[in-house]
Amino acid sequence: MKSLKNIDLDNKKVLVRVDFNVPLNQDLEVKDDFRIKSHLDTIKYLKENNAKIILMSHLGKPKGREMGLSLKPIASKLEELLSCKIKLAEDVIGERVEKMIAELDVGEILLLENLRFYNEEEENDNEFAASIARLGDVFVQDAFSVCHREHASTCGIPKFLDSYAGLLLEKEIEALDKVVNDIQHPFVALIGGAKIITKTSVIENFLKKADAVLLGGVIANTALKFKGIYGEEELKDNEIIEAIKDIEFDSSKLLVPIDGIISKGNYSRVGGIETIKKGEEVVDIGPKTVNYYKEIIKKAKTIVWNGPMGKIENEVFSKGTEEIVKTIAEQGVYSVIGGGETVDFINNKKMSNDFSFISSGGGAMLDYISGKKLPGVEILNKHYERQN
Ligand code: 3PG
Repeated sequence: MKSLKNIDLDNKKVLVRVDFNVPLNQDLEVKDDFRIKSHLDTIKYLKENNAKIILMSHLGKPKGREMGLSLKPIASKLEELLSCKIKLAEDVIGERVEKMIAELDVGEILLLENLRFYNEEEENDNEFAASIARLGDVFVQDAFSVCHREHASTCGIPKFLDSYAGLLLEKEIEALDKVVNDIQHPFVALIGGAKIITKTSVIENFLKKADAVLLGGVIANTALKFKGIYGEEELKDNEIIEAIKDIEFDSSKLLVPIDGIISKGNYSRVGGIETIKKGEEVVDIGPKTVNYYKEIIKKAKTIVWNGPMGKIENEVFSKGTEEIVKTIAEQGVYSVIGGGETVDFINNKKMSNDFSFISSGGGAMLDYISGKKLPGVEILNKHYERQN
């Protein structure tokens, strides 16, 4: 990857892909600014080097021009964090945006509207990418957390513009490479959260690299149902069954909860996984599982964690996750944490300094560590005959 630090930025229009996909509250205010803050070093560097800065990001999954997912609240938060004016364009491309860019002075910052207001973004449409590329002189990829997506703003624009890695992207790759290239064993991966489908290949890859893969959250429940040991409940969703059937569930490295906080309606109880009755669900890992997982974590020299162990949106069901977090923090070994909910949890507990590295990526972090190539990173290494 070519570094931003190797180019003359003076008076250049620099298009920067950032990831400002952050949670908003009901009043459309930024609830957690971790991801925004992660990009500040890159933005400040561009400012100090007299670039004209054009930031672009997606926010959520809008269906067309959904103004509830406008980047306006992000612009306000960025103004607060940088103590300077942020201009907000009302579109991504078009004449009005071009006019705003033409009027941009060195060191000034313009934020384009939500990239996903255009379907062409996720479709990686060539013409859309070319139209964005025409707005700038160089492209900087700083959004590590979307580099696992083949979108116009990750894989399209670099076909048309000289492209560089931003400071956050460099920092992420450097920290995660310690797990990819220089792994200290025993290596333990904890994978929780909601959707097993999106993490299937990651689990398969970790089973090859890690010494233990510990599952939690809904992902664990799905695995337990698939194995036929989730009490009276079975897995019926054919799409999920098809997606996960190749995971080596019998591997001695793949560990699933043995007990849980089992809930239905307003009641909850602690019980073994085999005791689950129809209509009940596991909402947190239970005390036996906590101890079982803790013993494995205590032997680890490298730990990667993504996704909560239970339904942490309810404080009562966040105990298992909290116990696991504390145990990881106490080990003092190389630990990497990532993913929106996971990072929120750690920030709320004021524990962000207790880990070696907190990644701004969720899916991207897991993909990268598990050994997959990220298209948005790979493309920065390619040489293109410029098409514009
Ligand atoms: C993330 O939140 O992990 C990134 O912003 C990517 O978002 P996406 O999963 O909607 O592509």
